[in-house]
Amino acid sequence: MSDKAILTIDGKQYEFPVIVGTEGEYGIDISKLRALTGHITLDPGYVNTGSCKSDITFIDGEKGILRYRGIPLEQFANGPNFIEVSWLLIFGRPPTTEEYREFAEELTHEANIDEGMKHHFNSFPRKAPPMAILGSMVNALSCFHPEFLDLDDEEKFYAAAARLISKIRTLAAFAYRHANGLPYLYPNPSLKYVPNFLHMMFSMPYHHYECDDLTRDALNMIFILHADHEQNCSTSTVRMVGSSQANLFASCSAGINALWGPLHGGANVAVMEMLDRIHKGNVSAEEYVKLAKKKDSGVKLMGFGHRVYKNFDPRAKLLGEIAEKLLPKMGRKDPLLDIARRLEELCLKDDYFVERKLYPNVDFYSGILLRAIGIPTNMFTVIFAIGRMPGWIAHWWEQKHMEGAQINRPRQIYTGNGLTDYVPMPGRKYPKRG
Ligand code: SDX
Repeated sequence: MSDKAILTIDGKQYEFPVIVGTEGEYGIDISKLRALTGHITLDPGYVNTGSCKSDITFIDGEKGILRYRGIPLEQFANGPNFIEVSWLLIFGRPPTTEEYREFAEELTHEANIDEGMKHHFNSFPRKAPPMAILGSMVNALSCFHPEFLDLDDEEKFYAAAARLISKIRTLAAFAYRHANGLPYLYPNPSLKYVPNFLHMMFSMPYHHYECDDLTRDALNMIFILHADHEQNCSTSTVRMVGSSQANLFASCSAGINALWGPLHGGANVAVMEMLDRIHKGNVSAEEYVKLAKKKDSGVKLMGFGHRVYKNFDPRAKLLGEIAEKLLPKMGRKDPLLDIARRLEELCLKDDYFVERKLYPNVDFYSGILLRAIGIPTNMFTVIFAIGRMPGWIAHWWEQKHMEGAQINRPRQIYTGNGLTDYVPMPGRKYPKRG
């Protein structure tokens, strides 16, 4: 493969360097395109555009490969917990035993939130969407921890990262408690990351919620599988906001808001609503698939398809396997799992989905598992955000320290009015809007 790309415009040839990634991906470096040719590129949705070089996560969408700092996702299935994987993503290698112990201790120590933050929860309406609360409260950390607004050294970054990963659990649990009119339960320093989160979610002052090993391992795995996914919409948002040198809390709050969308992290809620509709008999699996294939139906098969994976999303595979194993062990049978399997079976044999390479993605099975653990549907995307936090933090730091770091500011092709004069109000006559 040549190390140059040639572009010919009006008979004149321009050369651009071709860069090659670790796994042989090719990129044409067009950073000099406009200066040399007066042209920009146009790529709505950035389907063909790389925003950066990154060392954090590698995805091969054709082969269904996902690696965190080079380690294949499958190797996390029976090994490390979410905290160890968070350390790996943020600091670039697995922690030593001592580093792991210190980090875990820091998370335990920093699990609580400032008492002043509790009053904010009480001011939200009971019906406030938990993702709205989470995005607001992560941003509010900028008010309660001003010492972390300017992360100019590794030690402060380490401390801020630990606070965010630890406190997002507490903020999420408090959002749930507030929405359900329940008293806030403080983090319990004798509990590990996942059991402490579930304790804050489900314990009562008179009854301690015991997190069994099955539930602990399932939620650990769910967090691990969501921990990073290179330049997805929410992570690119964190990098975009961080490129203006906005602080870590503000940038991750922006990521939470991008994740909320039903085409992105909000899909896990939409999948359960879809499966529920089919279960309640409003529509059969076959009819739903037919609807999803019709352009004008406005219906998509939620949890299916992916911008990068044109093969199975390895996370969907692992989550489906965990659900098959876990539900019977928990003595639970969820008819939605059977419906999900039925939909998968129908689509894998249907030309519409096969031709467009639409396979189950991470959101297709995650909701069934979360429901088995007792997490309510409106908290599913919140769980995604807790899992994705280490990825956002890692990318924010990488953006801040990347070679030639500058504010991200895409160009556009203007297609609006040509030069237009201002007409004073009385003289205006326009057709009715809409
Ligand atoms: C996540 O980017 C990431 O990494 C995201 C994520 C992460 O970890 O951060 O992996 C998490 O967001 C997973 C995706 C969750 N979203 C959903 O499950 C929503 C349903 N999926 C679709 O909305 C869609 O597949 C996207 C948004 C995920 C991907 O959309 P693309 O890449 O822009 O693809 P497209 O919309 O251009 O679709 C190509 C074709 C179109 O048909 P044609 O115009 O070619 O006829 O496939 C069709 C689409 O209509 N299509 C679907 C479909 N997804 C795509 N048709 C029916 N059902 C679907 N789900």
